[in-house]
Formats: sequence, structure tokens, C-alpha cells
Amino acid sequence: MTQDEMKRLVGAAAAAYVNQNMPEGITLGVGTGSTANFFIDAIAKHKNRYRGAVSSSDASTARLLHYGIDVFDLNQIDDLPVYVDGADEINELGHMLKGGGGALTREKILASVAKEFVCVVDASKCVSVLGFFPLPVEVIPMARTSVAHALRTLGGMPKIRVRPDGDIYMSDNGCIILDVHRLKIIDPEAFEVAVNQIPGVVTVGLFAHRGADICLMGSVSGVKKIDYRGEMT
Ligand code: A5P
Repeated sequence: MTQDEMKRLVGAAAAAYVNQNMPEGITLGVGTGSTANFFIDAIAKHKNRYRGAVSSSDASTARLLHYGIDVFDLNQIDDLPVYVDGADEINELGHMLKGGGGALTREKILASVAKEFVCVVDASKCVSVLGFFPLPVEVIPMARTSVAHALRTLGGMPKIRVRPDGDIYMSDNGCIILDVHRLKIIDPEAFEVAVNQIPGVVTVGLFAHRGADICLMGSVSGVKKIDYRGEMT
């Protein structure tokens, strides 16, 4: 099975999980990236069960609208029972490294509001120590150099994200992203706090204080559900 096939499998499993466990008429929180896209594709078949969605990126919004799913501004909704999103890395406690798709700030906002965070990954994303994947940090453009300096002091090697055409990548929020290489994040909660304290940092792509509640992990042997609040099935 290819990585894409595993992502498709967990996207479908997440749609089934949401259909089974969430009441009709709710607004769904929808993440960003190729795995989240498979979730959107799968949930689109059940769109009438839901009021609509709030989305973590312009790209996911476009995909939801393409399927005729209403997209609401977060300020328009009272309640977000579930948020489904991928991750670049996840550890055994449900701490995640996210933002490879550049949507980390909106993802973190939705994760903070959601009652349940369902992380959807293929098995290659499961790690014992976070940081092999470069850690995305969204930064106010004028603070690029000072934040990069501070990140080097914390032991990393920041590189500004560029687009395939060579231009500097700009987030949906008009900010730049520094991808921090060569990290070994032994204490994700402490590191999240340390990066958050650097002036000019908008969001760090470490989701440790608000990690996943559930992980649906796709592998060659099927989808495993890991519940960080208790059981494993
Ligand atoms: C988007 O900004 C990210 O947080 C994604 O959730 C993460 O990069 C995983 O993406 P894929 O599902 O495409 O691997």
C-alpha cells in the first residue's frame, strides 16, 4: 500500500468515526493537507448530516465549497465538537508537530476551540521524539531576523520557507514561516512555551499543550485507533 492509499484509508475512517460519534447538525472543524483532503472527500458524501464546517485554510475552504459544504467563520459558531486534521509527526502522548502545509495558526486556533481533536496520519508520522521534520514557526515579517536568532539560541537551524518559484512563502495570514531544522524536542510542552515567548512569533507548530485526543493511524494492516485519553483498540 502506498502512503497516499494509507492517507485515503484514514480519511475515510475519520469520516466514519465522525458519522458514528457526532450528532447530526453540528459544524465540523476541518484541517489542512493531503490527509485532511481525503477526509473532506469522504465526509462530502454525508454532507447533509452536518450544518457545515469551519476550515483551517483557504485551500480547505475551497475544497469544502467545491463539494457544496457551507463554510462558516469561527466567530459565527458557538460550539466545535470535533476537529479532524493531519500531522507531520505525532508521538506516543499525542503531541504533534504540524504546519508542513503552512496552516499552523488557524489549525491551532481550531484545535484550541474543539472538544475533540482527531488526528489522521499514516504510520510514517509516528515518532518517539519530535523534531526530525523541520518545525514550522509562523512569524511577523519584520521579526524574521530576530526570531531566527532566538531559534538558533534554542538549538535549531531556521530556514525561511520559499515557494517552488523561489518567492518567499506567505501564509494565509500574511506572515512568513521559518522551518527549524536539526531539533530533537525532548520536552515538547516546555519547547512550545519557549518558542511562544519569542517576540514576533505568531504560532509554533508544536501541538503539545493541546495535543490530539484520538489518532487514526493508517498502516498496511489497516487503521488503528489510539485514544490518548484512555483505551487503545
Ligand atoms: C498543514 O499545515 C499541516 O499541519 C498538515 O496537517 C500536515 O502538514 C500533514 O499534512 P499531510 O496530511 O499532507 O501529510
